Amino acid sequence: MLNFEFKNPTKIIFGKGQIVKLPKEIPAKSKILLLYGGGSIFKNGIYDQVKAALKDFEVIEFGGIPANPEYEVLVDALKIIKGQGITFLLAVGGGSVIDGTKFLASAALYTGENPWDILKNNIRTEVGMPFGTVLTLPATGSEMNSGAVITNKATQEKLGMGGPGLFPLFSICDPEVIKSIPQRQIANGITDAFTHVLEQYMTYPVQAYLQDRLAESVMQTLVQVAPVIMKDPSDYTAAANFMWSCTMALNGLIQKGVPNDWAIHAMGHELTALYHIDHARTLAIIAPSHYAYNIESKKEKLAQYGERVWGINDGNVLEKAKLAIVKTEEFFHSLGIDTKLSQYTSDYQKSADFIKNRFTERNWVGLGENKSLTPNDAHNILEMSY
Ligand code: NZQ
Ligand code: ZN
Repeated sequence: MLNFEFKNPTKIIFGKGQIVKLPKEIPAKSKILLLYGGGSIFKNGIYDQVKAALKDFEVIEFGGIPANPEYEVLVDALKIIKGQGITFLLAVGGGSVIDGTKFLASAALYTGENPWDILKNNIRTEVGMPFGTVLTLPATGSEMNSGAVITNKATQEKLGMGGPGLFPLFSICDPEVIKSIPQRQIANGITDAFTHVLEQYMTYPVQAYLQDRLAESVMQTLVQVAPVIMKDPSDYTAAANFMWSCTMALNGLIQKGVPNDWAIHAMGHELTALYHIDHARTLAIIAPSHYAYNIESKKEKLAQYGERVWGINDGNVLEKAKLAIVKTEEFFHSLGIDTKLSQYTSDYQKSADFIKNRFTERNWVGLGENKSLTPNDAHNILEMSY
């Protein structure tokens, strides 16, 4: 096992009817900016619950944060934060609203001239404006981690940011919010969370037995609940297990003491920036090719995953590893998710060169757990995913 440090200060308030607890968690006399997305919270009653809970606070609202939150939209919210003396941010939404709020928490206290530099120059946020979240869509784990991904529409870039100042103070996770989520987004959530586990697991063995089993148990739980929640999002047991699995997939716990990959996300973010494909779907496009391309360095973990998650007991390590990739792709298909880039766009052939050039420009010359995945490798993986 590798050395590690672990600290996660986010308080999780989990379960039915927990939104009423909001006022106890927000510092008294806060001036709140309530941030939301395209308006789903008005149709499913979440807005009404939040407003009722906040009746004793001064609240200003900012809506319209789009999926893959855009810098250009967020700077308008930043003006309100600075102009109105906001002291607390409350995100009510999925990963996009929460990530947008994290950017604002950082930008509100940033003293540099251009807040985009936080992303462009990879500036760590040590202290941010305090914020909490009411999670409406399980997927990203953003409700219990300190990372965010922001899109710059003008430059077609999608970049990550983070730092210890960006953990939510609290997150309210009520699985009943899931019943209004469209099936397409539920499929996305399962795929994103599943791939988060893969990114922190599918590397090489370091005899971290507990981390391996924690990761496998999150994947097994997602595989178990996927067909139930896809069929009936109002099934509370499935919803609760789905929601907690998504949080556990990316709250920092399973990645400690083990090597991490994250190359699938690096390539996937480029596909979203280029073609506006949903985040989770980009991962389903890249993952099978990435694992097939890197099978030599990943075969032990692929075989272990095949045995423990998919019950593959026959064959040697390489055969088990190959079958594990097939099973993973079949799982994505079972959710109605296509795994070839050409199924999403007819303009797919430019992507390999585009991504190779982008990674070269940024000097991303060694991605993955061995820091050995070159821009040329990314090019080859993209071509395999056409
Ligand atoms: O905008 P509204 O109207 O609220 O509708 C949203 C949106 O259209 C809808 N939705 C959310 N909750 C709902 C609901 N519809 C009905 N009922 C509800 N209860 O779902 C749509 C998608 O929402 P979004 O927040 O974009 O989805 P998700 O949670 O998958 O977030 C994706 C974003 O998170 C980033 C992705 O790159 C992407 O930008 N990620 C963030 C990570 C992190 N912070 O740790 C890690 C991830 O790997 C990922 O990169
Ligand atoms: Zn993701």
